[in-house]
Amino acid sequence: MTTNAPLLHHVEAGHGPTLLCIHGFPHDHTLWQPQLEELTDVARVIAPDLRGFGASGGPDATMTMRAYATDLRNLLRHLDAAPAVVMGLSMGGYIALAFASLFPDALRALVLCNTRATADTPEAAAARLASARRVETEGPGAVVPGMVEGMTSAASRARDKTLNDRVGAMMLRQPGAGVAAALRGMAERPDRAVGLPAIKARTLVITGSDDTLIPPAETAAIAEAIPHARLVTIPGAGHLTPLENPVQFNAAVRSFLTRLPG
Ligand code: MLT
Repeated sequence: MTTNAPLLHHVEAGHGPTLLCIHGFPHDHTLWQPQLEELTDVARVIAPDLRGFGASGGPDATMTMRAYATDLRNLLRHLDAAPAVVMGLSMGGYIALAFASLFPDALRALVLCNTRATADTPEAAAARLASARRVETEGPGAVVPGMVEGMTSAASRARDKTLNDRVGAMMLRQPGAGVAAALRGMAERPDRAVGLPAIKARTLVITGSDDTLIPPAETAAIAEAIPHARLVTIPGAGHLTPLENPVQFNAAVRSFLTRLPG
């Protein structure tokens, strides 16, 4: 499969097995700053901006999870970095599951964070399409401010007083065309729950006890369905576990990486 998509902007650091970090919505690679800084002794950490986010331009009007996954496979090829441990948060997890289904040969293991395997309900999909239209006419400021508080837990915000300002700034700087394209793509993503028992890759599933956007039970269901999966719940963290509690998050990922066979 080939694509005319531009190569994704990305940042990388470290040596070892590839750890491909896929950000959520509407984020960019800076979501993974603590992993780019702290996991470099155990992995080659690669954090791209998905097409239409950060410094990666050229989104189609609808960016399906399959299209994002194909861009990522092409990036890994370009960097001679496959097979990879593919780690995705929330929308990044939807994309990681698409990647596992489409490109199993390029997959070494999976880390699924604060995500779900099910598709949108018809109501949720309709709301996303309505948001996409608003973003196109009014810009990301029409929907992003209302999303910021739900990203992190009250405990994390109390501990780190500038957390929400940083998260909000990251979300608000994303281009409207990319935000709208992702909303359309998420609205039409398929249900991947039925395919979970067939995933052969070792899998680490991470959730935050206080995630209100994707409740821990929904993420835990992924760990129950994948044969070689382990669940870690980060106490007191919300939706952005890698940023809210990098110490515990990185310890879980480090332990997983260092125990992978061969
Ligand atoms: C995300 O953080 O990527 C979003 O909450 C995913 C979604 O809107 O379903």
